[in-house]
Amino acid sequence: MSHNETISDQQLLLIEKTMQAKTGKDLRPFKRPFLNRRINARMKAVGARDGSEYAKLLESDSTEPSILFKSFSINVTEFYRDSFVWECMSSKIIPQIIKSNGTLPLQVWSAGCASGEEPYSLAILLKEVSGTKNVKFNIIGTDISVEAINRAKKGQYLSQCLKNLSPNVIAKYFTPINNDTYQINESIKQLVTFQQGDIISFPIEHINLITCRNVLIYYDKPAQELVFKKFHKTLNDNGYLVIGQDETMMGVIAGKSFSCILPRERIYTKLVSGGSIVV
Ligand SMILES: C[S@@+](CC[C@H](N)C(=O)[O-])C[C@H]1O[C@@H](n2cnc3c(N)ncnc32)[C@H](O)[C@@H]1O
Repeated sequence: MSHNETISDQQLLLIEKTMQAKTGKDLRPFKRPFLNRRINARMKAVGARDGSEYAKLLESDSTEPSILFKSFSINVTEFYRDSFVWECMSSKIIPQIIKSNGTLPLQVWSAGCASGEEPYSLAILLKEVSGTKNVKFNIIGTDISVEAINRAKKGQYLSQCLKNLSPNVIAKYFTPINNDTYQINESIKQLVTFQQGDIISFPIEHINLITCRNVLIYYDKPAQELVFKKFHKTLNDNGYLVIGQDETMMGVIAGKSFSCILPRERIYTKLVSGGSIVV
């Protein structure tokens, strides 16, 4: 059966409407090329010839809507992803936050945390940087995918996800379960809370540092606009935001309320009445 890669605007509208009705999920914030790729992959898998045939299947099949939605959640991640960003957080950002936060517990949000590598990396980094000092911190990891959150709570990882960590850090914070799998230690696990939720509606505030990396790349500018506004509201004055290497605030109006302090690392501070802090 030949498969037509093009999905017309009308077919997409139908698919979006059916998804909204069947799952309550809104596909409109996703970028069109990303939507096309994911829908095409599912059309190919089920042998639908075009978008209208696939929309009919979404309507009649009880499992396909949730399978399609799950395919929008790309969970690729690793510990200390883009290690130069983590080096910079370790030498500049975390010491600065610790200094300015006084005795208050430091609040960190990993938004779109996938299977937990990012928030656990933050916990390891905070432990390493604070050393013997009595620094208190809470880290929350959230993701829209229930499956990802369940994997994060479990805290078991293949060695390839640990490739950016030194043998010393692995020995300190992980326990090998078998040849190729490691369990994160309880001392790190207890520092992180996981919750399922959509970034845009997740109730959270008074945060010192948000990492939202490799999530917004799949969303169009109006959706990014809402998310950056949300982050601005969620961050404490002069709080920090770290986005992914392939992400930018260019063309987003809400980006004007942040100052990019480390362009290569994509690290920003929240601007408060026109000023930013220097690292
Ligand atoms: C590619 S992973 C990135 C993981 C990690 N931040 C990193 O950079 O390695 C993207 C994650 O964002 C999650 N995600 C996508 N849209 C989301 C949303 N609206 N709210 C919360 N999580 C979302 C996906 O489920 C996926 O687990």
